[in-house]
Amino acid sequence: MSIVYYESTGTFHLYNDEISYIMMILPNGQMGQLYFGKKVHLREDYSYLLEMVSRSMTSYVFENERTLSLEHIKQEYGVYGSSDYRLPAVEILQDNGSRICDFVYRTHRIIGGKPKLEGLPATYTEKDDEAQTLILTLQDPITGVELELFYTIFSRGGILARSACFVNGGTETVHLLKAMSLCLDLPDCDYDWIQFSGAWARERHPRMRRLEQGIQSVGSMRGHSSHEHNPFLILKRPSADENQGEVIGFSLIYSGNFIAQAEVDTHDTTRVLLGIHPEWFDWKLDPGESFQTPEAVMVYSGSGLNHMSQTFHRLYRERLARGYWRDRVRPILINNWEATYFDFTEEKILKLARTAADAGIELFVLDDGWFGERSSDRAGLGDWVVNRDRLPDGIPGLASRIREMGMKFGIWIEPEMVNKDSDLYREHPDWILTVPNRNQTHGRYQHVLDFSRKEVVDTIFQMISDILKDGSVTYVKWDMNRSITECWSAALPADRQGEVFHRYILGVYDLYERLTSTFPQVLFESCASGGGRFDPGLLYYAPQGWTSDDTDAIERLKIQYGTSFCYPVSSMGAHVSTSPNHQVGRATPLSTRANVACFGTSGYEMDLNRLSERELAEIKDQVTFMKKWRRLLQYGTFFRLKSPFDGNIASWMTVSDDRSQAIVGWYRILNSVNPPYTRMKLAGLDPDRLYKVSKDGVFLGEFYGDELMNVGLITSDACSGESPDAPDASHDFESRIYILE
Ligand code: DGJ
Repeated sequence: MSIVYYESTGTFHLYNDEISYIMMILPNGQMGQLYFGKKVHLREDYSYLLEMVSRSMTSYVFENERTLSLEHIKQEYGVYGSSDYRLPAVEILQDNGSRICDFVYRTHRIIGGKPKLEGLPATYTEKDDEAQTLILTLQDPITGVELELFYTIFSRGGILARSACFVNGGTETVHLLKAMSLCLDLPDCDYDWIQFSGAWARERHPRMRRLEQGIQSVGSMRGHSSHEHNPFLILKRPSADENQGEVIGFSLIYSGNFIAQAEVDTHDTTRVLLGIHPEWFDWKLDPGESFQTPEAVMVYSGSGLNHMSQTFHRLYRERLARGYWRDRVRPILINNWEATYFDFTEEKILKLARTAADAGIELFVLDDGWFGERSSDRAGLGDWVVNRDRLPDGIPGLASRIREMGMKFGIWIEPEMVNKDSDLYREHPDWILTVPNRNQTHGRYQHVLDFSRKEVVDTIFQMISDILKDGSVTYVKWDMNRSITECWSAALPADRQGEVFHRYILGVYDLYERLTSTFPQVLFESCASGGGRFDPGLLYYAPQGWTSDDTDAIERLKIQYGTSFCYPVSSMGAHVSTSPNHQVGRATPLSTRANVACFGTSGYEMDLNRLSERELAEIKDQVTFMKKWRRLLQYGTFFRLKSPFDGNIASWMTVSDDRSQAIVGWYRILNSVNPPYTRMKLAGLDPDRLYKVSKDGVFLGEFYGDELMNVGLITSDACSGESPDAPDASHDFESRIYILE
């Protein structure tokens, strides 16, 4: 990996074994983009890639010259209004009302490793030789605003991490109205666009369409990254698939309002923009002040979607997630939410915990309802003190009884919110986001605390720290159950109200940073009504997140499959819940629920005391299985094999680093009678090794890796169509786990 600068041509070439990223200083001093893709040779002069022709109705930069127009040039950080008409990466409102700015090259630095982004989550290096960073310093000569563009190339994988920092080096105050993290101009538009969209309980379903002339975008204006659209986007060549072809993934390490956009002009070039959503964004930059954008990560894969995903998985697992739990297998937990909802007593909790402990479960998580006057969703949020009617001996008392059973103990919190029926709100009614004299919309009867204010974050930090400080709590599920409305802060002047959405997220990050650094061994799991803030930003603080409130195994196939395009298995909280399922009323076999949940940080979320002896014995076996295989399940190389969006069968697998072991999950949604013979082509194996294959503990035979990958694993039923009472009869929602050793 290296970054080379050729002074004679003003060319920068960032490369590693997989990719090249080439740009140059344009004749007008701005930065031009030349190439991003599979690695190419180093050359001093790549300026032939800067195609410039004269076209009618085009505006040109230089007097007496008719070739240099920004409209037809690929730029590094596009500006609007001085010959480019596409949507720009930046907009700066100046004192005289103008928004024109032209950032020209001034200088650059190349450093080993990667600088930290203060107050923001970002990828990192542990040693300087893991990556190199180029910092380009540009300046708008009129306002004096400096723009630093950061490019980090990692030694391994087709990864480029990017961000931008604005420093007002002028004498006038300016307003930053748009500041993208990434702008990438591509020379053509022959791509499929894949976004990851949905709603509460059906998050991150991939949706694909052909890129077209015009603007296509997804984003969030809800104050959090949202269930609706994930801050992740893929452009792939139409012929590319899971295992071959060109693919670029774009991921924003941010948890607030965002936009991911592609503009295809009528000459078929594509501009990709990724960053904080410019709607409602207005950051006042006084002289001397600076603004750092969140980081965006681009991954190029020349060999399909699986390889792109694996690159993101490794990066996000090893160099975005941090701390004690980063590389550790995650405890198998029992969460009481779907078992009791708000209706619990200490006695009930202990009874559930006893059965869980007997099954080998390692962590008990007490969900919503243990604090303040929280007997329903109408009261108590904000009062982070234990409810003694429910837990007479407080958290330490309950935790110690659970510890005696051999389990660890964890709690649920929702620190960003307040119910009006709470002591915190009664004391500080001005601490919520609200506009004076206007209606205060609620979500789930709760209001959003103004986390842009330090005193608010300080108070919540103190309350949560008081609970965590005696060490009885070793896990925290941090929830967030509503989107932001009436986004206005009593603490900021009128000309800074456009900063509130972003300052709110900075407050969330600040609280996360303080809690995770004060209690480094506590495992944090993020949550937002399920997957409403399942994004890379939170992965920096919480190495796992609650993937979705939909716990039905069949629904989860789609959700976990979609989520896997960007996020590693180790980040996906996945629980076995009751049947019929609470969200969709579907009855599924206990085995299938576990076979889906084990491809995640798995746990249980049901009243175990309602199960039969036979079911409890089955759960015991499942827990033993998960304990034996979780390192491979959570940290192996993950391959999608068959999409649940394409048919009746879904399948995925994970392979150990040395390729000596693999686990395949195979799921058939509906049964059919007298079906065709079926095979499943596996991936990632050593072609020359002989694997012992077993299905659900039964040895099937030995096969070479090349057989399993090219011929396929036989998955046909032994006896489909027989009486449902036959011992091997197949049924709806059947699943299998194949172990390869
Ligand atoms: C929403 C979460 O996603 C659920 O798992 C549960 O924690 C509830 N909130 C509790 O209110």
